[in-house]
Amino acid sequence: MKKVNLAVVGATGMVGRTFLKVLEERNLPIENFYVMASSRSAGKKLTFMGKEYTVEELNEHSFDKPIDIALFSAGGSTSEKFAPIAAAHGCIVIDNSSQWRMDPAVPLVVPEVNPEDIAWHKNIIANPNCSTIQAMVALKPLDDKYKIKRVVYSTYQAVSGAGLAGWMDLENGLKGEAPKKFPHPIANNCLPHIDVFLDNGYTKEEMKMVNETRKILHHDDLRVTATTVRVPVFDSHSESINVEFEKPFEMDDLMETLKNAPGLVVQDNPEENVYPLAIEAAGHDEVFIGRIRRDESVESGVNIWVVADNIRKGAATNAVQIAETIINQWNQE
Ligand code: A2P
Repeated sequence: MKKVNLAVVGATGMVGRTFLKVLEERNLPIENFYVMASSRSAGKKLTFMGKEYTVEELNEHSFDKPIDIALFSAGGSTSEKFAPIAAAHGCIVIDNSSQWRMDPAVPLVVPEVNPEDIAWHKNIIANPNCSTIQAMVALKPLDDKYKIKRVVYSTYQAVSGAGLAGWMDLENGLKGEAPKKFPHPIANNCLPHIDVFLDNGYTKEEMKMVNETRKILHHDDLRVTATTVRVPVFDSHSESINVEFEKPFEMDDLMETLKNAPGLVVQDNPEENVYPLAIEAAGHDEVFIGRIRRDESVESGVNIWVVADNIRKGAATNAVQIAETIINQWNQE
């Protein structure tokens, strides 16, 4: 069994700390482990697998030592500068920022959905946006079976997606304090505004969902539209997804397809008030789906409700699964 040298870049952040947790839980075969962040955190201690590690400042020489895989979650500009440096040293970067996602030379991967895309990486692999990842796990099995024609996303996204500052805005807002991160109070409110506004009137988050869906499903001209909304929930994103298919479907067959889909858990028993909930998905690695019902307004379509922990499956777990897939391939060679 090949043991790997692995680095976490942005290890002190919300996703970075979850990388450490998920790596521990999944017990990846690690030989040497490195934690990196900005100069602000250099010298801090982080515990991993019962051992203390000192946070190193990320710099041009960080990848002079042999590192096989680096998980990056330190923002777009850090990835823009340092991912190519790591890649040039032969390190495979799995990057959680949006920096490389739409680069045609960079695979954008959800391991349950398009693991085959890992094969053509040139040492940088992008982790999709959190809202896109959970949608893909639900939509891929349906696309394979009934060929998706159009998708309408409406999201209900947790404040943890905006990092610690977003989290604090909700926590402090509930005590009556003014927001610092969001442009309006998030406590007792819904903000139809995630990331910046673009010229077409959509937000960047909405266009990430549109473009990343097309790239991951390999449907360049798929009709997709999205409205992304920040809601006063700490953890886990919920999404209402309306899907239209090219082909007809039977409800029983569709339910069976979803029950057999990798990484997906069906929670759908309206009589017992069973459907996916943000507070129940939090802390889990699966994507939960419920409220599955035919869209009676179109020839062939369905409405679904999809919930997942945005920091785990929406970020850290997905990246660790990509690393796991690569390590498994190395160990089969
Ligand atoms: P630091 O804690 O030293 O600021 P979050 O998304 O939760 O805000 O976390 C961002 C992560 O990215 C943190 O670990 C942060 O480190 C790290 N980071 C931010 N800027 C840089 C940088 N220029 N170089 C390295 N790490 C960075």
